[in-house]
Amino acid sequence: MTQSPMPASDHPASDHIDAVLHETRVIAPSDAFRERARYSAEDYERLYRQSLDDPDTFWSGVAGELHWFKPWTQVLDWHPPHAQWFVGGQTNIAFNALDRNVARGLGDKRAIVWEGEDGEVRTYTYAELLREVRRAANALLDLGVQPGDRVTLYLPLVPEAAIAMLACARIGAVHSVVFGGFSVSALADRLNDAQSRVLITADAGQRRGALVNLKANADAAAALAPGLEKMLVVCRADCDAPMQEGRDVFWHDALNAASDDHEAAPLDSEHPLFILYTSGSTGKPKGVQHTTGGYMVGTYLTTQAVFDLRDDDVYWCTADVGWITGHSYSVYGPLLNGATVVMYEGAPNHPDWGRFWDIVQKHRVTILYTAPTAIRAIMRQGDELPAARDLSSLRLLGSVGEPINPEAWMWYWRTIGGGRCPVVDTWWQTETGSIMLTTLPGAHPSKPGSAGLPMFGIEPAIMTHTGEELGPDDGGLLVIKRPWPSMLRTVYGDDDRYRKSYWGEIEGVYFAGDGARRDADGYITVTGRVDDVLNVSGHRLGTMEIESALVAHPSVSEAAVVGRPDDVKGECVVAFVLPQGDRTIDPAELRAHVSREIGALARPDAIYVADALPKTRSGKIMRRFLRQIAAGKEIQGDTSTLEDPGVLDRIAATQPV
Ligand code: PRX
Repeated sequence: MTQSPMPASDHPASDHIDAVLHETRVIAPSDAFRERARYSAEDYERLYRQSLDDPDTFWSGVAGELHWFKPWTQVLDWHPPHAQWFVGGQTNIAFNALDRNVARGLGDKRAIVWEGEDGEVRTYTYAELLREVRRAANALLDLGVQPGDRVTLYLPLVPEAAIAMLACARIGAVHSVVFGGFSVSALADRLNDAQSRVLITADAGQRRGALVNLKANADAAAALAPGLEKMLVVCRADCDAPMQEGRDVFWHDALNAASDDHEAAPLDSEHPLFILYTSGSTGKPKGVQHTTGGYMVGTYLTTQAVFDLRDDDVYWCTADVGWITGHSYSVYGPLLNGATVVMYEGAPNHPDWGRFWDIVQKHRVTILYTAPTAIRAIMRQGDELPAARDLSSLRLLGSVGEPINPEAWMWYWRTIGGGRCPVVDTWWQTETGSIMLTTLPGAHPSKPGSAGLPMFGIEPAIMTHTGEELGPDDGGLLVIKRPWPSMLRTVYGDDDRYRKSYWGEIEGVYFAGDGARRDADGYITVTGRVDDVLNVSGHRLGTMEIESALVAHPSVSEAAVVGRPDDVKGECVVAFVLPQGDRTIDPAELRAHVSREIGALARPDAIYVADALPKTRSGKIMRRFLRQIAAGKEIQGDTSTLEDPGVLDRIAATQPV
């Protein structure tokens, strides 16, 4: 490294990231795969060049494969940091996913094959899905939902989640999906921030054989969200949830009363499509705002190219619709392409860790897209479970959400893919909307642990914090040098935060918040966040968010949160807390409190009760040292700036609880 690319503040580095950086294996796709692949290496070279040199032609070609009620007059209007794509065009993403596919003869093709955790299977053809979405669109209109209104979804992974998203998109309402594992207060915050008048929830969801009472959470959140007027309740369990007169309506009643005749609204290309809240390094989660045309084009292209999608594929992305992966690659991208999408409601270990392989075998899944944390957890259970299933239908594997360590990559490739399925490691973010870095499966060899090359139209660079571009093998900050169609347009209600967080860190480029390096072949290895964002089991959490939750407990006066490398979760949460006065800290109660405030995924794995935190004289907490303590490492670095250097030894001598 020629110089430190990092800002003056402290930044994480973990052992497993070091392991990723020193990986040298190269795995080429098989001849059989390459011969049939959509893109060759030459295709990629040519199209990538065109996408940068003549973006108007490139993007017009892709967008032109989809239906527009009115053509665009300008491909890109770029007033940094604000982009508009396909300016003047009118389209509808739900129309493109459904009506367009039915019109081209896919009406009887399976669109969604859903499996509940209890084994129930429901299938929707494209024609059936279109009918349901039309009825749901009319039901929303009957509730008074107008174009531009925000509709919040708090649902388990049931087909109604996709139907509700598509129904919103069909009428121009903006969906805001809140992951069903989030707490009452997280839901209430998101309802309030988005000023949603309508919430779509379910009586329950199934998780590890138990029912999760989503309706009770929705009711409690509604009490904290004064603007909420209506609740649609999907019946997933026994339909005996208490319903509030005048506010709550069962989904099936609303749909039964609605007509299945509905024309999709022609929407401006820049009409907002959805908001999805994600954690940042400061403050409350931000509502990442995506719009219609560009997001549609980005997810359509990347699903087709990265997954080498063909007509007879059975495609399964394991992500919940509560996350961006579920939006782009369980719903929009594959449906735009007319694919058959498998959805699974429950946990990967119910009734045992062979569940994923049961699903692959039963539905003859050909493309599987999942997260390293799931791969590692399943890998730990040994090879017997996958070996006992027929996985021969698989032809392509994908990974997303966090860096994948080479051991897990090799296991996935060999044990699940039988050495014949290319593995695509895909780097992207809630904000990017679609895949940014990967290898195209028939075109490029993979390097385990390295996401790979830029997708069409994406111009990445590795920079120092002051904007100097770094050469091969120098670690630095990952940035994107030009706008792309599926990028976020703003942070909902806070454009200033959009400017500052993404385009203000390094002048003129999009700052991803990740560290990375590029090798001599151009492959980019993303090493993890360089800000105070944790990645726990592929889910983003801000340290500040967890700290705020901790100090909201009466027994805690101050808190600092850091990540610790974890063999399964990638990273886990470690909290350092100071008791309030002479109160004692009850770790079980504190963990339950964090679950109530945010959700179970934010629960600290370890809690250190300290008498002080390592602060500089100006009061800044030096999390770098806490990270070293959490990881059980020797303290390294200059401790002389600390107000009380002795604090580190005292904390290190403490047993976490
Ligand atoms: O740190 C990167 C990591 O996940 C972050 C984005 O999180 P989120 O917005 O929740 O979206 C996750 C699904 C797209 C990134 O800033 N990340 C995601 N994919 C990878 C990754 N890190 C390394 N390799 C990946 N393939």
